Formats: sequence, structure tokens, C-alpha cells
Amino acid sequence: MLRILPAILAITLLAPAVPAQQKPLRAPDVHWEPSEPEIVDAMLNLAGVRKDDVVYDLGCGDGRIVIEAARKFGARGVGIDIDPVRIKESKENARKAGVERLVTFRNEDLFEAKIDDATVVMLYLWPWVNLKLRPKLLQELKPGTRVVSHSHDMGDWKPEKEITVQGDKIYLWIIPPKQAQAR
Ligand SMILES: C[S@@+](CC[C@H](N)C(=O)[O-])C[C@H]1O[C@@H](n2cnc3c(N)ncnc32)[C@H](O)[C@@H]1O
Repeated sequence: MLRILPAILAITLLAPAVPAQQKPLRAPDVHWEPSEPEIVDAMLNLAGVRKDDVVYDLGCGDGRIVIEAARKFGARGVGIDIDPVRIKESKENARKAGVERLVTFRNEDLFEAKIDDATVVMLYLWPWVNLKLRPKLLQELKPGTRVVSHSHDMGDWKPEKEITVQGDKIYLWIIPPKQAQAR
């Protein structure tokens, strides 16, 4: 026992250092559940993504939405996720898809993230997260920015469009001019 004691001590001391790098910044508000490819396509089409767009995915999971926007339309993209494991996967997936030049992935809390250069924002979160995020979207995004949400709406902020794909709702909102928000 005495002989293995130093080894046990070393493992105990070193153990927290490794998982700490893999741990989310804090508990995620929503667990990871990827949007199906058909839903991703429908979200990109509903937003009308073009080459000159900057597409953000707040809670980007494995990066599939911004990677597809880059692959299909040549759009630039930014994926934000609180979980570093998802960010690592996203970067690997972007490299495999050959779009690293167009996309950036940031390990950040979406409520703290700088998002003001977005022209399109994608969401697949929870209803209460959408509602908590709503003031930030209205305050920080430029008028005309398109916001698309898979599955969940924004309470009494009525969408411009609403479609159903494979039984799931997808919603589109457009950030109104600032003077319209003040009314
Ligand atoms: C349902 S998944 C959606 C993944 C991707 N957008 C998609 O549609 O395939 C939600 C993602 O949000 C991330 N997430 C949860 N809370 C977050 C927060 N506060 N800030 C950033 N990311 C968060 C989770 O780690 C997870 O990857």
C-alpha cells in the first residue's frame, strides 16, 4: 500500500486539472440535441441565407448550422457554445467540411456573447431561454437581422413566418427598426 501511495496521491492531485478543461463554463441552460439535416436546411432557407451573411448559432452544438451555411452558401459563421467539448467538435467538423476559413467557434455563454455583427441568428434552445434572450436580441442586433428558432417561439413577439418541417415548428423574426421598438 505504501508503495502505491505516491501514485494515488499524484492521480488525485492531477485529476481535476484534466476534466476542468473539458467542463462547461457553467451548467448549460439546454442539453445538446442536434437539429436534423432537413431542419438545418429549412432554417437556412427560411432565413434566406446568402454569401454576404454572418450567421450566428447561439448554442451551436457540433457546429452543423454554421458549417452548412458556409458549405452551401459561402456565408461566414460564428458558433457559440458554453460546452468546450462541443466547440472542439465544431472545429473538427469545420476542418473536415473544408470551411475553417469561413467559420469561428467560441466557447462562451450565449447571454454574455458579443453578437452585434450577426445578420442571421439561429436558435435551438428552450422556450424560457428564448424569452430571456429576447431583450438582448432586440437591443444588440441591427434592424433587419433575421432570427430563426427551431421548435420554440418568443412569447408575444409574433413571428413573420412559421413553417412545420418533419413535425417541428420553425419560426422567423426580423429585428424591427429601433424607433418601432420604442413604441
Ligand atoms: C439543443 S442544442 C442545439 C445545437 C445546434 N444549435 C443545433 O440546432 O443542432 C443546444 C446547445 O446549446 C448549448 N448551450 C446551452 N446553454 C448555453 C449557454 N448559456 N450559452 C451557450 N451555449 C449553451 C448546449 O451546450 C447545446 O450544445
